[in-house]
Amino acid sequence: MNLKDKVGFITGGVSGIGYATAELLLQHGAKVAVIDVNSEAGRTAVSNLAVKYGEANVIFVKCDVTEDGDIEEAFKQTIAKYGRLDVIMNNAGILNESNYKLMISVNLTAAITGTMLGMKYLRKDQGGNGGVILNMSSISGLKPSLCLPAYAATKHGIVGYTRSMANSMAADINVHGVRFNCVCPEFTDTPMVRSLESVDSLNRRGIHHAQALSNYVSENVDGMIKVSYIADNIIKLLADETKNGAAMLITSKGVAFIDPPEHPYFSDRANLKR
Ligand SMILES: NC(=O)c1ccc[n+]([C@@H]2O[C@H](COP(=O)([O-])OP(=O)(O)OC[C@H]3O[C@@H](n4cnc5c(N)ncnc54)[C@H](O)[C@@H]3O)[C@@H](O)[C@H]2O)c1
Repeated sequence: MNLKDKVGFITGGVSGIGYATAELLLQHGAKVAVIDVNSEAGRTAVSNLAVKYGEANVIFVKCDVTEDGDIEEAFKQTIAKYGRLDVIMNNAGILNESNYKLMISVNLTAAITGTMLGMKYLRKDQGGNGGVILNMSSISGLKPSLCLPAYAATKHGIVGYTRSMANSMAADINVHGVRFNCVCPEFTDTPMVRSLESVDSLNRRGIHHAQALSNYVSENVDGMIKVSYIADNIIKLLADETKNGAAMLITSKGVAFIDPPEHPYFSDRANLKR
């Protein structure tokens, strides 16, 4: 997919990985809707981007992704502004083991809702142009997490949902034109990770092995992957039309596509009686 003149919709887009991806999409000539619950940071982020890339190319929509009505309204405002939608990045996320119900709602439920509500604007058979949905997982979506078991559950959920949607919808891709992929970064230097330096903050959020995690982050955060590297790889994945159902692991040592063994009954539509 050539990203020039395409329209991207990024939740959690005012900070960290979401913001870096929004900026890179703009550099590729796309237009962007930055979606976030933090309206103060949203206004600042969008005015910075508008100065660099033009007011016509970026909007901020305040949206709490735990509210289905907010997500629907954000899609409507994006379509009203640009008249099309090509890329949905369900990226908003939090870390909170104590309030795991809220975390599941932000990290996983909202990504499923964003996929389901967004599909109708992307589908070629419903007036869209086709496109790609990119869900944000983590390396904790692929392996056990020592400190964040409920977070890992949300991120495993993203991998399972995204790969399953791709698998389920693949036979009709020529009809709807939508691809589904996810990315699984390791520790990246963002405000979310910087917040792990404080033991008090970790304890308040019920994060396991708080002291050890705080020590690790404090000692290593300056050398962690930068958001620009994650955004670069996300852009490559968005543009690559051969990728559907991909789980892209992004580490400081490079990128790998994770391909769990397929079970023939569940992965091959020929085995399902229609
Ligand atoms: N930083 C990492 O090491 C890392 C690694 C793997 C995956 N991730 C994932 O990447 C995504 C982005 O994380 P980040 O590190 O850039 O964090 P970040 O804290 O910089 O950005 C997260 C954004 O999500 C927004 N958000 C939170 N709750 C929301 C809600 N209810 N509605 C709308 N927006 C909401 C925040 O306001 C914030 O702007 C998250 O899903 C995170 O789990 C991060």
